[in-house]
Amino acid sequence: MIAQDTIVLSNQPAAPGYFRMGLTCVTGFDTAKPGQFIMVRTGTDGTPLLRRPFSLLGLIREADRVTGIEILYRVVGKGTERLSRCRDGDRLSLIGPLGNAFIVPEDCRQLVLVAGGIGVPPIRFLAQSMLEREGDLHRCVVFVGGRTKDDLVCLTEFDLPGFLLDVSTDDGSQGNQGMVTRSLEKALDAGPVDLVCACGPPGMLKAVSAIARERGIACQVSIEAMMACGMGACLGCAVKVRDDSQHYRHVCVDGPVFDAHRLAW
Ligand SMILES: Cc1cc2nc3c(=O)[nH]c(=O)nc-3n(C[C@H](O)[C@H](O)[C@H](O)COP(=O)(O)OP(=O)(O)OC[C@H]3O[C@@H](n4cnc5c(N)ncnc54)[C@H](O)[C@@H]3O)c2cc1C
Ligand code: FES
Repeated sequence: MIAQDTIVLSNQPAAPGYFRMGLTCVTGFDTAKPGQFIMVRTGTDGTPLLRRPFSLLGLIREADRVTGIEILYRVVGKGTERLSRCRDGDRLSLIGPLGNAFIVPEDCRQLVLVAGGIGVPPIRFLAQSMLEREGDLHRCVVFVGGRTKDDLVCLTEFDLPGFLLDVSTDDGSQGNQGMVTRSLEKALDAGPVDLVCACGPPGMLKAVSAIARERGIACQVSIEAMMACGMGACLGCAVKVRDDSQHYRHVCVDGPVFDAHRLAW
């Protein structure tokens, strides 16, 4: 984990209310993994004071070196609004990479990924990283859901060799009509699946976890919590786990990726 000043390479609208930002990174991200996140100071003048957490959407490589990172964010408040006003060349202070990552075991053959709304970034990074993997991944299905078609961001990024993409919107404006979990259930009932990895709103993650659990399928979820420090110091990001003597874990240092079946939903 490294604190550094970075330079904004790009900051473009990706969909209504969503922006995709590229940042230079001098050092520290060569081994960054899908699921990890950064804490960014969103303004160039020191306000808001607290950094904001964002998952890695991907790494920018030049030759064999990682020279930058990308994030995808939705404008929801003061910090993300400030971020959306950044121009190419602006300097932003960040800390990262932070937290843990999704772990797809070597013997995983059938992988299912689920992204809801702004849960796309770590799932997109994970899908991309599966392409580089040596081994025997036979099948990877990606389920992406949003309230409307305007909430489907970076869909073309999942157009990857050997991947199946299944899209749902609550209002039916694109893909299947209904919640992404309905399509997921059908797919899990249709054939064997070794692992489900998901990121999205808490309600969706709870449902995905229950669906996987009922079928005895391993499930990893990347969850969010309000974060002040991102480094285990403020203890503000506690989540309850079961079967654990400590009862609570901290999303910033013990997560953000958790075994879904160990969380007390
Ligand atoms: C590990 C992690 C990874 C994240 N990755 C992404 C990402 O890739 N893209 C993205 O757009 N967002 C991501 N988020 C959420 C993002 O950090 C918040 O949306 C952001 O901090 C809001 O800052 P703000 O100043 O704009 O909003 P604020 O003014 O701070 O808050 C605006 C509204 O958003 C709510 N809010 C703020 N932070 C969170 C949070 N962490 N969880 C739930 N609700 C929140 C507040 O309660 C309030 O209602 C992530 C959060 C975590 C913890
Ligand atoms: S954000 Fe401070 S302990 Fe997790």
